[in-house]
Amino acid sequence: MLDIKNIYKTFNAGTVNEKTALNGVSLHLNEGDFVTVIGGNGAGKSTLLNAVAGTWLVDEGSITIGGVDVTHLPEHKRAKYIGRVFQDPMMGTAATMQIEENLALAFRRGKPRTLRTGINKAEREQYREMLKILDLGLEDRMTSKVGLLSGGQRQALTLLMASLVKPKLLLLDEHTAALDPKTAAKVLDATEKIVTRDNLTTLMITHNMRDAIMHGNRLIMMYEGRVALDISGEAKKNLTVEDLLARFGQATGSTEADDKMLLA
Ligand SMILES: Nc1ncnc2c1ncn2[C@@H]1O[C@H](COP(=O)(O)OP(=O)(O)OP(=O)(O)O)[C@@H](O)[C@H]1O
Ligand SMILES: [Mg+2]
Repeated sequence: MLDIKNIYKTFNAGTVNEKTALNGVSLHLNEGDFVTVIGGNGAGKSTLLNAVAGTWLVDEGSITIGGVDVTHLPEHKRAKYIGRVFQDPMMGTAATMQIEENLALAFRRGKPRTLRTGINKAEREQYREMLKILDLGLEDRMTSKVGLLSGGQRQALTLLMASLVKPKLLLLDEHTAALDPKTAAKVLDATEKIVTRDNLTTLMITHNMRDAIMHGNRLIMMYEGRVALDISGEAKKNLTVEDLLARFGQATGSTEADDKMLLA
C-alpha cells in the first residue's frame, strides 16, 4: 500500500542551516499494516510523514501509494489517498461549523464540496453511529459548533473525518500528544478501533514508547534520518521498553537513552 524507496531530504542545502532530515529511508507497508513510529526529537519522523503527504518533494528516491507513483505529485493531488491528523487539535476541523457539517464535508471528500444538498436523515444516523465509537458523547451534540468542543473532542472528530472515506493511508503525527492523559487514552482507543475495523494502513508517530509497543503490528524507530529499528510480528508482541532501549543502543551505537522518550 505504501512503498518508499531510498528517499532523501535536505533542508536549506548549501547554507549554515543545512540539515539532512531524511538520509536514505526505505519502507514498505502492506495493506492493513499499523506501524508505530518512534525516535528522538529531530530524528525525521514528521519529515517522513510530510514526504509521504507531499508537503514538498523529496530530493531523491520514490514514493508509491496503492500502486500509484506519487513522487512528483503535489500535496493536493495526493490528498485523496491520505487521511491525516496532526498534534494541534485546532487543525483539521472547521470551528464555526457544526459537528455534523464537519462530518458531511469529510463525507463529500473527492466529490464536489457542497453542503447545499443538505444532510439527510440516513446520513445523520450514520454520523451518530460513528460518533458513538469515540465514547465522548458527541453523538448527542451533532449540531454543536466544533469551536465549543475541547481539544480532545476536536482531535477525536478530526480522526473520524480523516478516516470517514476510507483513505489508502492514515498518517498520525503525535495526534494525542497535546491531550490530557485520560482523553489521550480515549482518542488512542478510538484510533485502534477505527484502524482495526477498516483495516487501515497506518503510520502513527508517538513519543510514548509504551503506546508504540501496545498498538500496531509493527514498530519502527528513526534515528538521524534513517530507520534504525524495524520490529514486527511476534518480536513486536513480546517487546518491552527495556528491550527497545537496548536494541536501539545496538542499532545506532548510541548509549544515550533518550530521556524524553523514556519519560513519556
Ligand atoms: N521545513 C523545514 N525546514 C527546515 N528544517 C526542517 C524542516 N522540517 C524539518 N526540519 C529539520 O529536519 C530535522 C527532522 O525534523 P522532524 O520534524 O522530522 O523531526 P521529528 O522526528 O518529527 O522530531 P520531533 O519529535 O521533535 O517532532 C530537524 O532537524 C528539523 O529541524
Ligand atoms: Mg515531529
